[in-house]
Amino acid sequence: MAERFIHILPEQVASQIAAGEVVERPASAVKELVENSLDAGSRSVVVEIERGGLGLISVVDDGCGMNREDAILSVRRHATSKIRGASDLVAIRTLGFRGEALASIASVSRLTLSTRRAADPSGTELTLTAGNIDEEKACAMAAGARIEVRDLFFNTPARLKFMKSEAAEKGAVAEVMQRLALANHAISFRLGADRRELLSLARASNPLERIRQVFGPKLAAAMLPFEASRPGLGVSGFAMTSQESFASARMVFTFVNGRAVRDRVLVRAVAQAYETLIPRGRHPAVFLFVNIRHEDVDVNVHPMKTEVRFRNQGAVFEAVYHALRARLADQTEGRESRTSLSPSPAASALAGAPGTPDTPAAARNLGGDAPRFEIAAAAQVSAPAFAREDSVAADDRPLRLVADSPVVSLLAQRPLNLGYAKGPEPEPGRDRRIPVYSELRVLGQVFAGYIALEDEDGILLVDQHAAHERVTFEKLRLQFRDGGIQVQATLAPVTVELNPARAAAVQATLSELRAIGFDVEPFGPATLLLKGAPAVFGAEGGARLLSDMIESMGENGFRPGRDNAFEELLKQMACHGSVRVGRVLEEREMRELLAELDRTEFKTNCPHGRPVHIRFARGQIERMFRR
Ligand SMILES: Nc1ncnc2c1ncn2[C@@H]1O[C@H](COP(=O)(O)OP(=O)(O)O)[C@@H](O)[C@H]1O
Ligand SMILES: [Mg+2]
Repeated sequence: MAERFIHILPEQVASQIAAGEVVERPASAVKELVENSLDAGSRSVVVEIERGGLGLISVVDDGCGMNREDAILSVRRHATSKIRGASDLVAIRTLGFRGEALASIASVSRLTLSTRRAADPSGTELTLTAGNIDEEKACAMAAGARIEVRDLFFNTPARLKFMKSEAAEKGAVAEVMQRLALANHAISFRLGADRRELLSLARASNPLERIRQVFGPKLAAAMLPFEASRPGLGVSGFAMTSQESFASARMVFTFVNGRAVRDRVLVRAVAQAYETLIPRGRHPAVFLFVNIRHEDVDVNVHPMKTEVRFRNQGAVFEAVYHALRARLADQTEGRESRTSLSPSPAASALAGAPGTPDTPAAARNLGGDAPRFEIAAAAQVSAPAFAREDSVAADDRPLRLVADSPVVSLLAQRPLNLGYAKGPEPEPGRDRRIPVYSELRVLGQVFAGYIALEDEDGILLVDQHAAHERVTFEKLRLQFRDGGIQVQATLAPVTVELNPARAAAVQATLSELRAIGFDVEPFGPATLLLKGAPAVFGAEGGARLLSDMIESMGENGFRPGRDNAFEELLKQMACHGSVRVGRVLEEREMRELLAELDRTEFKTNCPHGRPVHIRFARGQIERMFRR
């Protein structure tokens, strides 16, 4: 008889293996424990960690607590009060439901659970080592629960080896707490690490107030509220004006039904909404709250419950994209008419009263070694310098994403790579409005590339190419959407010679060229006949523009593979066709350009996301003269 090889693993080994999925690092244990506190209806949650959570994680809440029997059950695998059967998985309303977290954490640590229900005379305290109950006794305590986890991973050396530095683990815990706090503004949270307070958040009355508590008043003030609703789906939140951007997506927070999730659909919708508004490769700050019927989202996708699956991804994408896009298109007016914005009751419940964000005016970050002028201008915007500058009066501080809480400065110690300029301290920028360019006094043209403007509070330089590019791009895009690019006929057909090596590729893409406004016909193997060009640019420059477009055509011609590939073409065309830096403009031309710019959506950035203007505040100039 053959020897048998298969055996059932001892319970303890099995739960260690399962634990690996749920508790990857201290931050995941913190997340699970705090989620339990939230599910228990707590109004206040206090977390303490030592050595990045590897020494100690303690979570104390004032929630419903457990009686003795439940406490004993709660540390067993698959023990949960939140669902009863598979049918409940269809619509999960709690953060937990797997009944695994406490058991998993207990199996890889020394855990003490103390808990009391308000109605019970005394509480229960359990002490466990590696998941086994060593001791059980009655205890006196306030109603709620206290869970202390010591020596996490002490019995799984393999896992322990993979831990990053204690500082990194501490940062990860802080980030988890931030997300939980943002998702639950009405709950008070505290986080201490090695006896230092990292986060102390009183109950907030709306999400914007919580954002302010976590990231400071300057960031909160640069936030535009947005919202949209469809049957069974509500989308709301706060979006950073397109004047600012970050080098990482760390400031994009997405929540679904109160749960912080990383979802591709949401992240993509956010990114696309900012497309052409901020430079490629940069990211906005967005706090997005999606509320969706529980039946329409599956949260049971990932052991850590950080991913979800929407039943109708397309609808969610559309709702988020349009809500954001509409808000971003309307940054100026929205601000002015803020008081007349009356959000739906649902939105105000979720988002609170709309704040009064003021929109920063100046350019973005210009990179590491930018000279002082540029840094000063950029500093109004992108520098998420997470350090507090107490010497500067609150309202006078430059728009840096200054936080009130040390948790943020803690995060700053980590390699955030937010890509902001280092350099001399920026000057405060006071005027953060989006200008009405055509109403400002034109001082003249500078370096044949910039239009200098003056308003009551500073000097603006408008990049003529970026401005024209945005104007033409928006025109092209509108025409393209409303029936096609308008074509202007050339006086006489013009021949355009093609590079013979690429002629075949060009000939194969004539229909795309026609779609973007070039009336072309083949005229021999390596020649095209141009009879009309996009009217936006006028027919005269058509041949030149066509050559430029062909020059920058990719290997596969203009074959638009993706949905927005035509948009890419239009962007390219706007770039090639727009006035270059280096062209001298007459005053009349400048005025026309500015007026057109004011009529254009997304006017403050070129289609590639670069700023259209930068500002030198008067105060800044005066300080340079030491006035
Ligand atoms: N802080 C707490 N307060 C009250 N009950 C708790 C608390 N933490 C855990 N529990 C109880 O223990 C059960 C098991 O918790 P857990 O292992 O995290 O599983 P889940 O949260 O998925 O149900 C929960 O269903 C809940 O009834
Ligand atoms: Mg749980």
